[in-house]
Amino acid sequence: MGVLRTLNVDDVLAHHRDSRLNRRLRARDLVGAGIGIIIGTGIFTLAGVQAKLHAGPSVTLSFAIGAVVAGLTALCYAELASGMPTAGSAYTYAFATLGEVFAWLVGWDLLLEFALGAAVVSRGWSGYLANLMGLPPDLFGEQATVNLGAVLIIAVLTAVAALGIRQSALVTNVLVLVKVGVCGLILLVGVFFVDPANLSPFVPPAQPAGTGATGLQQPVAQALLGVQQSVYGFAGMLTAAAIVFFAYTGFEALANLGEETRKPSRDLKIGILGALAVCALLYLGVSLVLTGMVPYVNIDESAPLAAAFQSVGMHWIGALISLGVVASLTSVMLVELVTLGRIGFAMGRDGLLPRRLGTVHPRWGTPHRMTFLAGAVIALLAAFVPIAALADLVSIGALAAMIVVAVAVPVLRRRRPDLRRPFRVPFSPAVPILAALACLYLMLNLNLLTWLAFAGWLALGLVIYYGRRTGR
Ligand code: ALA
Repeated sequence: MGVLRTLNVDDVLAHHRDSRLNRRLRARDLVGAGIGIIIGTGIFTLAGVQAKLHAGPSVTLSFAIGAVVAGLTALCYAELASGMPTAGSAYTYAFATLGEVFAWLVGWDLLLEFALGAAVVSRGWSGYLANLMGLPPDLFGEQATVNLGAVLIIAVLTAVAALGIRQSALVTNVLVLVKVGVCGLILLVGVFFVDPANLSPFVPPAQPAGTGATGLQQPVAQALLGVQQSVYGFAGMLTAAAIVFFAYTGFEALANLGEETRKPSRDLKIGILGALAVCALLYLGVSLVLTGMVPYVNIDESAPLAAAFQSVGMHWIGALISLGVVASLTSVMLVELVTLGRIGFAMGRDGLLPRRLGTVHPRWGTPHRMTFLAGAVIALLAAFVPIAALADLVSIGALAAMIVVAVAVPVLRRRRPDLRRPFRVPFSPAVPILAALACLYLMLNLNLLTWLAFAGWLALGLVIYYGRRTGR
């Protein structure tokens, strides 16, 4: 069996048919899970910071560009997820199209993306809560030797994720209602404080970029191609678009819920595209309102939205925004834990991870072993390691997987033209190629350190892969 052996699509479909995971999710649960993992801190901080630093009011256009790129990629996920529903998502699509070693690397990449994501978010959650409730920073803050808050929240959410997909969906849906409610409130109240003068000129005149980042902190596009990050103007808006794309990441996790969806051929596409559409509308609205309320040069970088409402005397909204942030971070971690369980389960079922991880709890109907393992690793990481500096690895991991998925669409069409595709990406291969190029462009905006760390992670993955192969 060579390293390029591929998984037969019929076997993937058979796995789905015989899956012992609980098939309980409806379209609205998928939209809930999608919003649950998409809306995190991105909109609450990035919109303001990027308006101030790179785009001015045109940050709304940056969010629109981000939505288009995410949308193109989401179309590719929708085609593969609805035609080949599986717990493995991009990992399984890579196995069916590119071969075993690529599938392993994609799975390894996804484990990094979601585990690191949950660890970073849990530390953020802990610090945020400590601030909000006056808890001791030596147990909950970044300087804690053992970050107790992060460990506690991961332990609780791991238990929820292991107990059942219905329970996880219920908790996620409640948290989503809170955060969407808070975003709705920001829009409804904020719109009365918009001063059109703040929105003009919508695209501020370009300014020469400063020296910007240097060394390992400079974006790869700058280090290798000499492309400078831009301040304002059209180019500044594009720079901001690359950065705010982070706010859209997460929708791809829905593709892992295929074996738990009642009508995957219909509901997965509704979930993926629906969640993204709702988030895009909220993001455009919130960034427009924010830049309409405050002249972009005066935006507060640490808490842009809360400060905007405080500046117009609406202090109570600041408290509600904090509630929205805590609900957002909680739901992000929960859906990430659920996702990790499914990816590890699929890899265990195929034998690329220990087979015991690829089993389902007889009563809970969840991949409990993988879920507990993921929870334990994340809690350990979050307890001891100040990992915020590695947050960009989450983005590079997501983008790399998106490129693989975009490439897999035309490859699978060619290899298996007969496959039933309840949803088809329009204008393939043009749209998938465009999606892949857009993701590559975004990756070039991440810094050298992130690329090196990512390369290191993949190299470690290859060593483990070949080590296990020779042991087989
Ligand atoms: N999309 C997630 C956020 O905005 C990662 O925080």
